Amino acid sequence: MKLLFVGDVVGSPGRDMVQEYLPKLKDRYKPQIVIINGENAAAGRGITEKIYRQFLECGANAVTLGNHTWDHKEIFEFIEDAKNLVRPANYPEGTPGKGLTYIRWNALTVAVINLQGRTFMPAIDCPFTVAEKLVEEARKVTPIIFVDFHAEATSEKQALGWFLDGKVSAVVGTHTHVQTADQRILPNGTAYLTDVGMTGPYDGILGMMREPIIQKFQNSLPARFTVPKDGRTLLSAVLIDIDEKTGKATKIETILINEDHPFFE
Ligand SMILES: [Fe+2]
Ligand SMILES: [Fe+2]
Repeated sequence: MKLLFVGDVVGSPGRDMVQEYLPKLKDRYKPQIVIINGENAAAGRGITEKIYRQFLECGANAVTLGNHTWDHKEIFEFIEDAKNLVRPANYPEGTPGKGLTYIRWNALTVAVINLQGRTFMPAIDCPFTVAEKLVEEARKVTPIIFVDFHAEATSEKQALGWFLDGKVSAVVGTHTHVQTADQRILPNGTAYLTDVGMTGPYDGILGMMREPIIQKFQNSLPARFTVPKDGRTLLSAVLIDIDEKTGKATKIETILINEDHPFFE
């Protein structure tokens, strides 16, 4: 089976890219499962119920989140009922929402887990301990397990990849918004990529307007970061082939669509 994962969708430019290219990517690669990271989908911060539903309508089977999960207050009104929405699993117990969900395709079940790193990020529970517990739980249901690890440090991402090698189908990083070129299948069959990259404005800084960010680096004063309304855009994704019986990955391929890497129809 093939699984397509689209990285951090930023604001309306990102959502427009999903609307435009997801059907084309589905056409070309024929993935059975599509997962989107939507932590920046609402104007760069968080997600609304309407956007979550749009992602599902446009072909996503599940939506993952990250450190921006709570930025749009509406999340508290719908997260409990959003079956296919996962937020980082290693938030303290009692946090609304869930970090593991199951999606079904024909007779197959795919477990989707979202975790967040804690190196150079706010302190939360240990992603390794929580991963171990959730993977054990998921493996009773299915060998096909996808992990979106939303983290800052490359080392922490690599560490979780190796920690879960042979136990899950894929560990793919999000959050740093720039696609890395280290896609590989680890020795025990886990597909690994440090960061899938973002989807949205191509000429911003991590998808946001450049000027306030450059200024903030210069003067350290508080600044308001917004998503540029127009300009060039990109889509970043990864395609993973998984043996549906063993849950082991057999192939991983990155996808990048922008003016420097055009999508030829
Ligand atoms: Fe992000
Ligand atoms: Fe993030």
